[in-house]
Amino acid sequence: MIAQPFSHPRILVFDSGVGGLSILQAITNRVPGCERFYLSDNAAFPYGTKTEAELIARVTEVMDYAIARIQPDLLVIACNTASTLALPVIRSRFSLPVVGVVPAIKPAAQFSRSRVIGLLATPATVVRPYTRQLIADYAADSTVISVGSSELVWLAEQKLRGETVSDEAIRAVLEPFYQHPAMAQMDTLVLACTHFPLLAEEISRQLGASVTLIDSGDAIARRVQSLLPQLSPDASTALPEHQAFFTKSTAEVEQLRPALARFGLPQTAILDIPLAVC
Ligand code: DGL
Repeated sequence: MIAQPFSHPRILVFDSGVGGLSILQAITNRVPGCERFYLSDNAAFPYGTKTEAELIARVTEVMDYAIARIQPDLLVIACNTASTLALPVIRSRFSLPVVGVVPAIKPAAQFSRSRVIGLLATPATVVRPYTRQLIADYAADSTVISVGSSELVWLAEQKLRGETVSDEAIRAVLEPFYQHPAMAQMDTLVLACTHFPLLAEEISRQLGASVTLIDSGDAIARRVQSLLPQLSPDASTALPEHQAFFTKSTAEVEQLRPALARFGLPQTAILDIPLAVC
């Protein structure tokens, strides 16, 4: 039984940037009665180009600080790049339940009829042994076309700041799929970076209706829901305002305010973490 010192269960959703908002949205839809905290480690963004040692050190450092400060009942690492590497370290370090976000290869393999599946992730996630193992376990009978892109992560950040994302930019990111001989049969694309569902419309516009996009959002929300039944919200107390934290004060954080408000995060604050690893 999880101790519940606060009147509503506190969920901390963590990512390098705004990508985890796609996961937060799914959690909000399914578990609206929780107090939600969002943490973007924008001081160390992006994660997808970091070495494994740098990333484990950074995620550990940020979690040590954030968990002590926010005291969540449950942590969601809303980042495939971090989860496919650092989940065991984080789970062994803290006693709270930790939900990770990993590429949705299994549902994609169950869904695909053509047995040609696309995998779009950060360059780090595409080559992770964890990801390769998911493919071996669940999609061994399929052709999996893997494309790693950091550019798309930046484009998602750009979109949430209210800037225009051109069709040409999206097309350029997707170009490696078109170079693959099996592309014409691809019927399913796994969005294996939490930033990418924020660009689902733009990606679909390029790929057309014959390719179904699959992400991990709702599966994660269901997992969170299953872990929370014993944390019943106190109906007599109003739900406190949800909060977004960043690890660095920047002009971009200011530009994100309208988007954060749309995701139900009217309050932003800076978590001043002493940066040993960045
Ligand atoms: N949103 C993160 C993910 O799901 C990664 C973005 C980054 O490279 O920082 O992989």
